[in-house]
Amino acid sequence: MSRRILAAGNWKMNKTPSEATALINELKEKVSNAKNEVLVCPPFVCIPDVCRVAAGTNISVGAQNLYYEDKGAYTGEVSAQMLLDLGVKYVIIGHSERREYFNETNDIVNKKVIQAIKNNLIPVICVGETLEQREDGVTFDFIRTQVKIALRSVCAQDAANLVIAYEPIWAIGTGKVATSEQANEVCADIRRCIAGIYDENTAQSIRILYGGSVNKDCAAELFAMSDIDGGLVGGASLKAEDFSIIADA
Ligand code: PGA
Repeated sequence: MSRRILAAGNWKMNKTPSEATALINELKEKVSNAKNEVLVCPPFVCIPDVCRVAAGTNISVGAQNLYYEDKGAYTGEVSAQMLLDLGVKYVIIGHSERREYFNETNDIVNKKVIQAIKNNLIPVICVGETLEQREDGVTFDFIRTQVKIALRSVCAQDAANLVIAYEPIWAIGTGKVATSEQANEVCADIRRCIAGIYDENTAQSIRILYGGSVNKDCAAELFAMSDIDGGLVGGASLKAEDFSIIADA
């Protein structure tokens, strides 16, 4: 089964709406013939402008988070329907920064995944181990737990369509990229885990990205690995030139 490579940019808490508009305008020219699927995930307040500029281009827009309730008295939160109404297609869920700074647990991640699917948003579920867990030899166990709980009550058909991003925490924003072999080994194990929960077909259709200091120089090698289907890119996605090279890698 062929899985299209996805180059996903996670802008995190960077860019004001006017800066975001400038970046997406620059990017849309540079990636208009990109080989890979291109996704950008700006901060919430930038999404309307970015969606407007990206409309009719080959760039999809994602959010970095959502809340798991439909609507109501949840001050400060953003719902799936609000995102959908703007033209958002993907939503990052369970990024390690959200798990660490905003106390997102595996159960919360699962609720958000279900809410995204229910509203036809494609979840990009983030998983990844700390350096300490890697050194303790519990990487696979830890990540399998994250994957299994994130996908609780998700049917095979819905699972086949979603995206998982393997992002070792020690590689995020540190400039310390996992080797292609290290990254592929975990992505392959995530795929085996999916096959165990569902079946081989589902495992073969799901896209698994690598994230953690992906840059224009290492992307091609990572994306060529058997079980890596693209990248979730932080820092390098803020530079149109660099991200356009990743979009073609
Ligand atoms: P980075 O971030 O590319 O800056 O390491 C990746 C991510 O956190 O998604």
